[in-house]
Amino acid sequence: MISRDDVIWAYRMLLGREPESEAVLAHYATEVPSLQALRELFINSPEFQTSAAMALAPRPLRPVFIGPAMQVELLAPPDKLALLFAKVSAQWHHLGETEPHWSVLTNESYFQQNFHMNREAFYASGETELKLFDATLARAGIDANTLARCVELGCGVGRATGPLARRFAQVVALDISAAHLQVAQDHVQAEALANVVCQHVAAVDELAGLPLYDLMYSRIVLQHNPPPVIARLLQDLLARLRPGGVAYFQLPTYKAGYRFTLDAYLQQQNETHMEMHYFPQPALFALLQQSGCKVLEFREDDAIGLSVTAVSNTVLVQKVAG
Ligand SMILES: C[S@@+](CC[C@H](N)C(=O)[O-])C[C@H]1O[C@@H](n2cnc3c(N)ncnc32)[C@H](O)[C@@H]1O
Repeated sequence: MISRDDVIWAYRMLLGREPESEAVLAHYATEVPSLQALRELFINSPEFQTSAAMALAPRPLRPVFIGPAMQVELLAPPDKLALLFAKVSAQWHHLGETEPHWSVLTNESYFQQNFHMNREAFYASGETELKLFDATLARAGIDANTLARCVELGCGVGRATGPLARRFAQVVALDISAAHLQVAQDHVQAEALANVVCQHVAAVDELAGLPLYDLMYSRIVLQHNPPPVIARLLQDLLARLRPGGVAYFQLPTYKAGYRFTLDAYLQQQNETHMEMHYFPQPALFALLQQSGCKVLEFREDDAIGLSVTAVSNTVLVQKVAG
């Protein structure tokens, strides 16, 4: 038996509306054996599926504020690059130790105190994102069966790692935060996914030592790193992609008023809060070219919410040169 309040909660959270009547409430409260069964019923309902499909439907380009080019320093000497990375590491260790799920999807449903009620929806969202990836590969004419070894940068608590592991023979799930990685490890173990290796990234130059792979996947990760770190991570990750392999990643590329000045940034104190950074599109295209990659698809996305002052892109590239 579930309570009347549970049913109201499921209506609001999953269908985004109030129940139609007291009779309907009473029906679900007496006939559905558990909250989990009610969630499954709602998630599989035509109403939920249609609204999810509408939310994912392509939209025409949004107008974007006509702002000036961003002033962004993209280079940092090795000692300062290490300091930048250490700042990201401290922030994400803190977030992983306090709010591992909310820090991945900043919705109050995923605060630790609420997570037990929303675990299923949280992990289901990873599968939804992978379906977008499947469609992107299909549009580009890439056969997913040719991609065996996958590296996921910033796996967080394993939201996309499970769906990746169900598609590809081997997944190396990387994260800068040991606390997030532990939750991801527990999750893949609970799902009996034996083809995942969770690996902590302790230094900015570690990715250069990864064995070659066929696929790089990363969403809502690079944006939390200062631009010189983004540049280094992408250069190293793309260098380890085997020819013919593909990289699929999301990256915010514009925000009106954003600037990044290395020395000024290093003077700021922040060891606890999530930061957002933006990497200019011209620099991204130059980096892709220098890395021997060709662009197969480049789309605006809603990964940072819908904004008229900011742009985020999702990119599929293929390695053409060694
Ligand atoms: C917002 S969460 C997203 C997690 C996962 N990609 C998802 O979509 O569910 C960002 C994750 O990236 C990790 N991260 C941030 N910067 C990183 C870096 N430079 N290297 C590896 N992991 C990083 C954080 O620790 C955190 O787990």
